Amino acid sequence: MPTADSAPPASTTTTCQVCDGSVEEFLDLGRQPLSDAFLTERDVPEEFFYRLAVGVCHSCTMVQLVEQVPRERMFHEDYPYYSSGSSVMRAHFEETARGFLATALAKPDPFMVEIGSNDGVLLKTIRAAGVRHLGFEPSGKVAAAAMEHGVRVLNEFFDAGTAARVRADDGPADAIFAANTICHIPYMRSILEGVDTLLAPDGVFVFEDPYLGDIVAKTSFDQIYDEHFFFFTARSVRAMVARFGLELVDVERIPVHGGEVRYTIARAGARTPSDAVAELIAAEEAQGLADPATLRRFADATARIRDDLRALLQRLRDEGHEVVGYGATAKSATVTNFCGIGTDLVSFVCDTTPAKQGRLTPGTHIPVRPAAAFADPYPAYALLFAWNHADEIMAKEQGFREAGGKWIRYVPHVHVS
Ligand code: SAM
Ligand code: TMP
Ligand code: ZN
Repeated sequence: MPTADSAPPASTTTTCQVCDGSVEEFLDLGRQPLSDAFLTERDVPEEFFYRLAVGVCHSCTMVQLVEQVPRERMFHEDYPYYSSGSSVMRAHFEETARGFLATALAKPDPFMVEIGSNDGVLLKTIRAAGVRHLGFEPSGKVAAAAMEHGVRVLNEFFDAGTAARVRADDGPADAIFAANTICHIPYMRSILEGVDTLLAPDGVFVFEDPYLGDIVAKTSFDQIYDEHFFFFTARSVRAMVARFGLELVDVERIPVHGGEVRYTIARAGARTPSDAVAELIAAEEAQGLADPATLRRFADATARIRDDLRALLQRLRDEGHEVVGYGATAKSATVTNFCGIGTDLVSFVCDTTPAKQGRLTPGTHIPVRPAAAFADPYPAYALLFAWNHADEIMAKEQGFREAGGKWIRYVPHVHVS
């Protein structure tokens, strides 16, 4: 595998990565860094940038980035996102694993595969139940964290080639699961070929990712960054999997990460699709999610958030207030770089992830400090970059409000509370 340094530059296309249709760009978020590349001072001169823009396919309605960052630049030994960093997400994946154990895995000698198993947040429950499993996880340190829990991991990218190898060695999978990973993968045909090779005749392929319907409804433009290549709808996923002899048989809206959909896919004809599929597709039609005019309005709303947030932060600075960022999320790279937020407006960002602490945020070079720095002393204002974890954070940071601190949010619009 080439190292991040030897990986090629980004490549641009106006051709749909799913169906070869033509893609119409509707939002340009400008020159952006890798969203999870937290830097040391020494890394700054070599920093990688690409153009972050998003478009919609006229043929299959898939919303997607127009420029592709090579996968080795994003997912490598030092990839710093650890799924277990949120207690809500730990509970979510434990419940998801228990759901699989009670359904698709409730049979003799079941086998489960996860694509993007990260630090083992889901598979450790599968392992504890004594069920045969395998995680595909190309990022070295997070894969090692899973192995420490006894989880079986292949430190490789899932694609048609690696899937065929596992099929030959381990046999068919009764369940293939992926969370916050399928939308990261531009080489979708290879992924779905791999699923087709590996999935048992009556198996299910289940994945969950940020939902375009929520992104448009909330103007959560920060869900758009290098790693989030596709923005799915039930309609676009149904069309995408049908190209590979697969069928969308169920959809479920789930509240995590700002609003996601869990898609359940089976071999065509193997299961009767639930009413939820047709209902969600009808709701998408009503919301106009495939209509370029809706998407252009979303782009306009994004520009308004940028202008409002910049104006607010400039005013607070001019009044002499300190603003600290909360959560060095990948999403915050889009916000800070698109809105031009540097250390003049936000003095530092606190984050619980050791791999991010002591480093600089991508592109804007704001220092990342441990969570404890937040209360030492509390700032006047905190800019909530990790807004998708708001309930968890508000519960543990009550002292900030009690000390007179105020939260700044920008989803679904800029507001202070
Ligand atoms: N599933 C976890 C969750 O929901 O928290 C991790 C999500 S993380 C945002 C995406 C993960 O997908 C990263 O750990 C990355 O290394 C992995 N990944 C990226 N491309 C992959 C591929 N082709 N096959 C398997 N994993 C991949
Ligand atoms: P995510 O939005 O991609 O899940 O990233 C969340 C980031 O926020 C991650 O770097 C961990 C950090 N974080 C905190 O610093 N404090 C918290 O309480 C939570 C839940 C997350
Ligand atoms: Zn298309």
